[in-house]
Amino acid sequence: MTTSSSETSNNVRRGSIACVGLGMTLGSHLTPLARSYIEQADVVFAAVSDSVVEVWLERMHPDVRSLQPYYGDGKPRMKTYQEWVELFMGEVRAGKRVCAVFYGHPGVFAWSPHKVIKVARAEGFEAHMEPGISAEDCLYADLGIDPGRLGCQHFEASQLLFFERRIDPTAYLVLWQVGVVGDWSSKKLQTGSEHRQLLVDLLSNDYPLTHEIIIYRCATLPIDKPQIRRIALHELPHVPLTTAETVILPPAAEMKQNVAMLERLQALEGAEAFT
Ligand SMILES: C[S@@+](CC[C@H](N)C(=O)[O-])C[C@H]1O[C@@H](n2cnc3c(N)ncnc32)[C@H](O)[C@@H]1O
Repeated sequence: MTTSSSETSNNVRRGSIACVGLGMTLGSHLTPLARSYIEQADVVFAAVSDSVVEVWLERMHPDVRSLQPYYGDGKPRMKTYQEWVELFMGEVRAGKRVCAVFYGHPGVFAWSPHKVIKVARAEGFEAHMEPGISAEDCLYADLGIDPGRLGCQHFEASQLLFFERRIDPTAYLVLWQVGVVGDWSSKKLQTGSEHRQLLVDLLSNDYPLTHEIIIYRCATLPIDKPQIRRIALHELPHVPLTTAETVILPPAAEMKQNVAMLERLQALEGAEAFT
């Protein structure tokens, strides 16, 4: 007799974890595979964008546990994320099939799903990440950007302030978590205009202050429309900005040909290949 992959030979079921993405827009982005992980789990944990989404999840599973109460004002987000990992692993070690549900893609700007998968595998449990439609996917569609045309860099906004990173202004630049930019403590739910001014100062090394940038929020409910605001870079500290918005800087300069490399390619392939 064969045993299913989650059962041991003496029929004691081994725990497992699947981290799945719901996509950004309630209902319409859920893949059949993500739904099946949710429905077949023993317990479902939910880190989603809206309590409406939790109510919708409860129609798919009777035991949906919200992860929202683990956040706290003045509590470092990293502490919350570590607690989530322990919570998931507690159920996995107890032999449960755990499904941890995240909005968007569970592996995009999300620490706990990557961490719990590593921990679970190191302890010999089955662990899987099921992708979802992220804010990144939505912005390509809503803003008509093809990352293959001019290139597209993605940065966590604070990382640009904390570390010396190289920005390429000939490509698109996508900045995540601008609403909490500069929060070294990871305790704040929002940072203010002084923090965003530092970001603008840094970006002004590569972009004119009058450069048009985009503040983008994709639809989270099917009745919503994407919100797209275009402002000048210098206005960024002074406009309202939520933590559910992403900032996009279109290219500010043209790509330059790499003449030396083109000459080497010509030597390899013959000049006629370039005419
Ligand atoms: C913790 S990350 C989560 C990203 C998510 N896992 C995904 O796949 O898109 C939070 C950041 O995602 C972006 N974000 C979240 N909701 C968004 C929305 N509705 N529209 C655009 N960007 C959003 C913002 O940059 C925000 O600071």
